[in-house]
Amino acid sequence: MTERVALYPGSFDPLTNGHLDILSRARRLADRVVVAILENDVKTPLFSVAERIDMIHEIVGDDRSTLVRSFSGLLVAFARDVGATLIVRGLRAVSDYEYELQMALMNRRLTPSIETVFLMAKEEYSYVSSRLVKEVARLGGDVSGLVPESVRHRLVARVLSQESRVESRES
Ligand code: PNS
Repeated sequence: MTERVALYPGSFDPLTNGHLDILSRARRLADRVVVAILENDVKTPLFSVAERIDMIHEIVGDDRSTLVRSFSGLLVAFARDVGATLIVRGLRAVSDYEYELQMALMNRRLTPSIETVFLMAKEEYSYVSSRLVKEVARLGGDVSGLVPESVRHRLVARVLSQESRVESRES
């Protein structure tokens, strides 16, 4: 029987508990899930691609059923390369819908045989995004429960090191 492979793409800058929840749901739909981190994103990331891969590996491992990879170029081309027939995206609120619809339809136009499926994380994560988590951490707020503990440690260390760099430049 052929293996069903799902691709779970994103920036994951950093991975949140919402992402982890979607990943565990995706694992139930596919024999193998490839977490795919976009390289060369226009957004300036807080963590390098290598750091993000590392953080995700620490939490989910890297066995045959869950792989963590980076990609550049078209998502559907990468999906074809890894043999994925499903693209998994998390949908939180109506505000996500327009952007996700555009991407899903564009990807379907490019490769009709690959289906995008939207999964909903637990309600408690419906407001959690990497962007907000970074903002709260930068402003000294507590992000425990929103990201895995290992990610929280790295996040706090990174924002503190950025702050001290800014302070030393200003002094
Ligand atoms: O977590 P994000 O930042 O919302 O993820 C966005 C991502 C990586 C899924 C999206 O930017 C993407 O697929 N980029 C690859 C470029 C591409 O294929 N573009 C054309 C189809 S929309």
